[in-house]
Amino acid sequence: MELVTKCGIKFRSAKRPNTWVKHYDTSKEHIEWSVNNSLKMLNTDRLDLLLLHRPDPLLNPTEVAEVFNKLKEDGKVLHFGVSNFTPSQFTMLQKFLPMPLVTNQIEISLSRLDSLFNGDLDLLMERNTSAMAWSPLGGGKLVVAGEREMFSKASKYNASYSQLSLAWLLKHPAAIFPVIGTTKPERIKEAAKSLGINLDRQDWFEMLQWATGNEVA
Ligand SMILES: NC(=O)c1ccc[n+]([C@@H]2O[C@H](COP(=O)([O-])OP(=O)(O)OC[C@H]3O[C@@H](n4cnc5c(N)ncnc54)[C@H](OP(=O)(O)O)[C@@H]3O)[C@@H](O)[C@H]2O)c1
Repeated sequence: MELVTKCGIKFRSAKRPNTWVKHYDTSKEHIEWSVNNSLKMLNTDRLDLLLLHRPDPLLNPTEVAEVFNKLKEDGKVLHFGVSNFTPSQFTMLQKFLPMPLVTNQIEISLSRLDSLFNGDLDLLMERNTSAMAWSPLGGGKLVVAGEREMFSKASKYNASYSQLSLAWLLKHPAAIFPVIGTTKPERIKEAAKSLGINLDRQDWFEMLQWATGNEVA
């Protein structure tokens, strides 16, 4: 088991009367506060992975490097990554850090295909860094449509459509880790079986065609 958490978004809430507008905060003070708060809430003394949740236009990479170093030296965080960063944002931040960013958590699914074609996954592959896919089942919407429309494909693999959608991500050479959202044990077990499905290349492309509504060029 690995403990992964994110920081950097400040929401408005009754618990935060001083936050009057939703905003990003990647200052060293906020990152450190956020980690200490996560450790307390999770009742642990170490996080395996900390992600900066969103690219912050006010991000100061020197300051981020300083606080990442401190958190690593203090043994509070083992590894660091980002989420929703563009390739240039990822490359820029990495330049200032002494440790490698180990992932970019981005939205990837059959209903969100941009990263396959916009350079996001290319950069991670070039750097031998894994991608994490958030909403890998399109937040659940994909499962409903897929089960209705891709029934024969699922029968061929003796799998559910959610398993096929995850197998579709796992087939990609970028070593994508799907971050599934369900907390139901039976669905987590069902999802794990997708690791044993090796989709045929033509089936992979047929699922892509189903998702885009178009044949590839
Ligand atoms: N980095 C970011 O900016 C960002 C943004 C959004 C989310 N995330 C992360 O990504 C995680 C996953 O996002 P997500 O919840 O949208 O993921 P998801 O796995 O695509 O969708 C989960 C939803 O699908 C439903 N579902 C329906 N059929 C299912 C089946 N057969 N198997 C599994 N789930 C099924 C689940 O319902 P039940 O709960 O009833 O099973 C749940 O509501 C979040 O928990 C969060 O940590 C990150």
